[in-house]
Amino acid sequence: MSVEATTDGAYRRWRRILADHRLPAAVVDLEVFDANARAILERAGGLPVRIASKSVRCTALLRRLLDSDSRFRGLMCFTAGEAAWLADRGFDDLLVAYPSTTHHDIAAACRATAAGARIVLTADSEAHLRLLSAIAADHGVKLPVSVEIDLSLRLPGLTFGALRSPLREPATVAAVARAAAADPHLEPAAIMGYEAQLAGVPDAAPGQWLQNRLVRLLKRISRHRIRQRREAILGALDAANLRPAIVNAGGTGSLEFSRGLAGVTEVTAGSGFYNPLLFDAYTGFRHRPAAGFALPVSRRPGPGMVTCLGGGYPASGAAGEDRLPRPWLPAGARLSPLEGAGEVQTPVFYDGPETLELGDPVLFRHAKAGELCERFDQLLLVEGEEIVDEVPTYRGEGQCFL
Ligand SMILES: Cc1ncc(COP(=O)(O)O)c(C=O)c1O
Repeated sequence: MSVEATTDGAYRRWRRILADHRLPAAVVDLEVFDANARAILERAGGLPVRIASKSVRCTALLRRLLDSDSRFRGLMCFTAGEAAWLADRGFDDLLVAYPSTTHHDIAAACRATAAGARIVLTADSEAHLRLLSAIAADHGVKLPVSVEIDLSLRLPGLTFGALRSPLREPATVAAVARAAAADPHLEPAAIMGYEAQLAGVPDAAPGQWLQNRLVRLLKRISRHRIRQRREAILGALDAANLRPAIVNAGGTGSLEFSRGLAGVTEVTAGSGFYNPLLFDAYTGFRHRPAAGFALPVSRRPGPGMVTCLGGGYPASGAAGEDRLPRPWLPAGARLSPLEGAGEVQTPVFYDGPETLELGDPVLFRHAKAGELCERFDQLLLVEGEEIVDEVPTYRGEGQCFL
């Protein structure tokens, strides 16, 4: 039998890299991260890519991406407070994709705007606009705003997509855009539509043949409706001379579709850089796992199993098995279906060729991308056989936005 058949080379590499390092630890393989970044640019087909900061949550890696290629342009932030903080750290071209409704956060964005940053805030109603306008007026600034449209597929008894904006009809979108344009403290800057049902719903989940068929069918119907709705909305904005400079679309799971939509000026991507578990199961593309976390083996409850310290880092969303982290290396390691990933201890079944000694790492992948960074203060950046840097996550910089 060859040596390869009796050892797990990928696991051994990580074990060598992490030997003597404090565990648990979160890791990013920079070669894979960079390769994913190049693949995302290719999938975007030449359109600028706005980076979804929530899916990275590490300023060093956001900076690395932005510096790597001029087609990475701007950040899509998740709160106005985050955007103001990033502006203070030297980032610019910040679009907050979710409505900000607290005085504290909007005021932070206004102060950053007064200091010269460009922070676009999201609205999907005239009530949002009134809130933004009043605080912008108090600060003597003109806030750029993005109007978010709804692209979910509504069928009798089923919404396929995200429940976010109520703006579906061209006339209502135009009315909000017109109100933004008429407000002396606001400036219409963007139209954003997120095709969540294409960008964030796996359609090649293992063992889910029937569900995959259904999802693909719904995606096909959605694509058609999204094209129609987007065109009608942009037509209405053009007729009123209200089309803004930025027309944003997409996410990691929909780049090929989103880049081809009429009028789209940029696409967004975030999850594909780390490529967590939920992004393994799409028919149209495949990125490689770039991020994970390593837990130390802490005990051995019986033959064919070890218990690791830590690990209970489930992902957000409708709770289900697909939200759990999963053992990654050594290959073949798996969670106990009865215990899952535990708050303090995680049992792992393993009967492969490697001997897992006390203190050895077991590597896991998170189901989602940026949420991993809420569990760790730093990311170990790895190249080849070496940890080349240790960089803080948002948490490590003392920041917890959501
Ligand atoms: C508005 C918006 N655009 C784009 C994305 C795509 O992000 P990702 O590429 O990380 O899936 C998201 C994710 O939820 C989003 O909310």
